[in-house]
Amino acid sequence: MTRADWEKSYVSAESALREAGVNDADLLKLEEVRVRFMGRKGELTELLKSLKDLSIEDKRELGPKAQALKASFDAAIEARRAALEDQGDTAALAADAIDLTLPSVRAPRGRLHPLTTTLHEIARIFQLMGYSWAEGPHVEDERHNFTALNIPENHPARDSQDTFYLQDLPLLLRTHTSPVQVRTMESMRPPLRVVCPGRVFRHEQLDATHSAVFGQVEGLVVDENIGLADLKGHLQTFLQKLLGSATKTRFRPSYFPFTEPSTEVDVKCFFCPGTGCPSCKHTGWIEILGAGVVNPAVLKAVGYDETKWSGFAFGIGVERVAMLLHGVRDLRHFYTNDQRFLKQFDESLL
Ligand code: PHE
Repeated sequence: MTRADWEKSYVSAESALREAGVNDADLLKLEEVRVRFMGRKGELTELLKSLKDLSIEDKRELGPKAQALKASFDAAIEARRAALEDQGDTAALAADAIDLTLPSVRAPRGRLHPLTTTLHEIARIFQLMGYSWAEGPHVEDERHNFTALNIPENHPARDSQDTFYLQDLPLLLRTHTSPVQVRTMESMRPPLRVVCPGRVFRHEQLDATHSAVFGQVEGLVVDENIGLADLKGHLQTFLQKLLGSATKTRFRPSYFPFTEPSTEVDVKCFFCPGTGCPSCKHTGWIEILGAGVVNPAVLKAVGYDETKWSGFAFGIGVERVAMLLHGVRDLRHFYTNDQRFLKQFDESLL
């Protein structure tokens, strides 16, 4: 190659480079341009290679010129690539920009079930009155659920209509929390004051006021000289703490085999001014618990000296109390777990 030829190629490469549009190219186009000029058979590559055909003097003079052209080409390509990458980063950042001023989504907070808070509230009041907490098994034997409680063999409460018996076993699902009363007396010496909260089971048709599974809190006090007056005092105090100091109570004579005398306690209806409504079955009063002075036969059955010790016991239904506290007229709401119902019970309510 002659010097003149080389110079022609140089001029043509230089103008081709100028027109290659490096500064408008996208990344793909940029690579094409790079290959076109600097690839194995690229125009600039050829130009640099052909330097070898020139004389030493020409090489010395033209070599640096060619190198400078290549350097400015490399620099242009690099500058464009950096600009494009920069733009890409900016676009990507803009695409997933986070607005730090947006309020966050509140994580839903769990809360205690209204039956749980009601149970806690009942137990809390009794604990303030010096009662401790005792629990017992759901599956019981006849002795603890019936016999020791003075419920004789032929008593209708033992009927399979009411009691769930376990198949082929002399065991049953406890029908009340009173067996815990028996277990407590078997394991402790008097004096004692306990509440025994828990779930109980009866063969009941589910309706607005009945369920086959429900919560009860049993209470038991055994000491010297305990009688009906103590029972009335404790229960009245409890009901006024639970339902308000203006709460009116009524003690009606009743019957339970394990207490003598026995009573059922009513509170003045919350839903009407005592004039009668469906909630109080038009009587103006709502039954809230069963109670009585512990039958000496029960004390004897657990080995206590019934001439020295006496006591009283009571049983209160958790659902009934929750319905009264919250004005719920159908207890099935407590079991269906409808969020619209449950969300109304803020923990601050109790
Ligand atoms: N165990 C009784 C019931 O479930 C309630 C009760 C308990 C009554 C203690 C008197 C004394 O119906």
